[in-house]
This record gives sequence, C-alpha cells and structure tokens, in this order.
Amino acid sequence: MNTVLQPLDVTAIRRDFPLLSRVFHGRPVVYLDSAVSGQMPLQVIERMAKYEREEHTNVHRGVSTLSQEATDFYEAAREKVRRFIGAGSPREIVWTRGTTEAINLVAQTFGRMSVRKGDEILLSAMEHHANIVPWQMLAEEKGATLKVIPMTDEGELILDSLDELLTDRTKLLGVVHVSNVLGTVNPVKEIIAKAHARGVPVLVDGAQAVPHLTVDVRNLDADFYVFSGHKLSGPTGIGVLYGKLAHLEAMPPWHGGGSMIRSVTWEKTTYVAAPGKFEAGTPPIAAAIGLGAAIDYLATLGLDRIAAHEHDLLVYATERLNRIPGLRILGTAKEKASVISFVVEGIHPHDLGSLLDGEGVVVRAGHHCAQPVMARFCVPATTRASFAYFNTREEVDVLVSAVEKAIELFK
Ligand code: ALA
Repeated sequence: MNTVLQPLDVTAIRRDFPLLSRVFHGRPVVYLDSAVSGQMPLQVIERMAKYEREEHTNVHRGVSTLSQEATDFYEAAREKVRRFIGAGSPREIVWTRGTTEAINLVAQTFGRMSVRKGDEILLSAMEHHANIVPWQMLAEEKGATLKVIPMTDEGELILDSLDELLTDRTKLLGVVHVSNVLGTVNPVKEIIAKAHARGVPVLVDGAQAVPHLTVDVRNLDADFYVFSGHKLSGPTGIGVLYGKLAHLEAMPPWHGGGSMIRSVTWEKTTYVAAPGKFEAGTPPIAAAIGLGAAIDYLATLGLDRIAAHEHDLLVYATERLNRIPGLRILGTAKEKASVISFVVEGIHPHDLGSLLDGEGVVVRAGHHCAQPVMARFCVPATTRASFAYFNTREEVDVLVSAVEKAIELFK
C-alpha cells in the first residue's frame, strides 16, 4: 500500500533557522550550500547550549552525579546514531571529528594491518579527497597501488568494470554513497555484494548521503560507513565511524592516551574494547549531544518527507536551469540527491559564485575537494547549488534569475 506523505511545513521549519532571516547585500539570504555544511536548527543549538550552561563536565571519568549525567547524555547520542543507521550495537559506533578523520582511522589501522606491498585499493572515480588521500598515503607507505572504478559521462559508476578491477590483491574498496559534486546516488548495496563475493571489505563514505537517504548499514552489509555531524543539521567537530564489530575488535588502537586504556604500566598498556580504544582523550561532548539532537529533529520531520521535498526541488531546479542557454549540468545520473553542479559558458565558476553572492544566493564554487572529478569532466571548477528540507521553489527561482542576470552582465 502506498501511503501519501504529508508535505513538510517549510514555513514553520524555516523559523527554526535564524540564519535564513539574514540579509546579504540588501537581499534575503538564499542558502543553497547545505552540501558544504548543513544549517543547525535552534533545537540543536539550544541543546548544546543547555549542556554547556547547566550540564558541562567530562565523561567517563567521575562518580559525581554531574559526570554520570553527562556520560548518559553522551552515550544516549551514540545510541541515537546506532538506531539512525541501523547498526546492531552501539559498540560499532566510534566518534570521530568527522568523515575525514574516520577514513584516516580506518586507513591507519585496518589498512595498515591488511595492506602489503603489491596489494590494491579500489576507489571510485567520484571520490572526495577525503576518500583518496588517506589511501594514497597508505599505498605509498606499503608499496600498494590505487585502482579506480570509472564512470560514464552522466556520472554513473561502470559496475561491469568491477569484474576485472576486483582481484585477489584487492584489500579494500572505498566508495562514496552520494557524490558531493555530481549528486549521484551510487548503488552501494550492489557494489558491496560484488566486493564481498571476492572477499573484499567495503568502506562507504556517507557524508552526503545521510542528510538525504535512509541508511541501513546492516541491510547494505557495509564493513565501514562514515559521516559527519555538520552535514546532518548537527555541529562541526563530530563525526561517526560505523564498523562491523569483528573488524573493530581486530583493529589496533590509533591515538593513544587517556580513556582508551584498561591499564598502564611502564612496561605495557592494555586497551579497552571498541569503541573506547579508538576514542583517546576528552571527546567533543557537546557536539556529540548536538548530533543526537539533530537526529531527533530530523526524525520529527521524517526522512521520507525530507527526501520527497528535496526531490521536488531537485527536479524543479534541474528543469529550470536546463532551460538557460549556455548552462551545462554535470551529473545527470538517474538516481540523484539534491545537489546540482553546473558550468556556464564564458563565466568562470568563481565569478559566477561571486555574482550570485551579490544577489544573496550562497552556493559553493570550486573543485569541491574532488579534483579527479573535475579532471574527468575537463573543467577546472563548477558552481554547485545544494538543497535542504528548508529550501523552497521560490529560492530556486531566485537562483535561476541570479544566473540569468550574471549571463547578461558577461554578454
Ligand atoms: N565536502 C564538502 C563539500 O562538498 C566540504 O563542499
């Protein structure tokens, strides 16, 4: 049975975001840059402020009521993340500073443990630098090689190539769930199944996926799934590494220090079990609690309603932008999230970004930390608009008018 989704009450939602009432250059701000960083609703900001105002202390370190209470809030946030991505145990949720740190953690522990000279690490052609550079560093250290799953001109991965690219030397496959440049939603479940059939573990970069899709790591059968709080209506400085417990248990610790130890003597240190052994030092407690509050906030809106709203904006914006002569959208995959990168003939993306800024429209212009994607499409940079649940069709109209005005200026 198809249930009809109630549309989001965007007018009410927008009241939760004071930033959306700001004015830049005499124009109301149009925030179309949620892929760079999502805005936090007041509910998240206030939850973090409450912790700092009334509840602040360290976690896992005291018998005081205050310390136990903070620990409970902090661990409750971990449980919210577990539920949010469908993990089997909170022990599979490791706090990190963000997606980048989570991938570096896997490269420096799991990767160091399993990659040897002559081995291969397989990545997709549409990875963010965060899912390239840590593997390149490891490959250089170990004498391993990186191989790349190619993509079509539409920005879809060529999955048939996996039959050849997955070899007995492949030690890990890393793939982005949603491309931050092209918006492509990759069929990660299918990719994981193909990799597992060859005994290859898979790390999925979910930074741009979790704000838009319902993710179930057990259904995907991902070995590792990583994302950041700040793309998910939460704060910066907090991120998540999900890892299957068997992997986390086998991996050595990474950063040493307080909190991750069972006992320390001058002769030898022993470590606590995962996830604690990967969480040395005082963690970003307010940020973790804030991320928990962001997950609560998104749950009240409903991820399916968010996805439906964003899909409507994606279709509407694609159709309107496509009508502008000289404008080309990069990334026309059948499955896309609400991210649109484009180039306009005769205007450098940085100039276009500045002109849009003059109209109050906030977009990202540049290589989007994905230079190999720029090289694949033979462009130095793009302008990128990314939409969230608080955006409206009227804001898409403002973007389109601002692009048309810029084109007029450059004539
Ligand atoms: N990864 C972020 C982006 O795509 C910074 O803009």
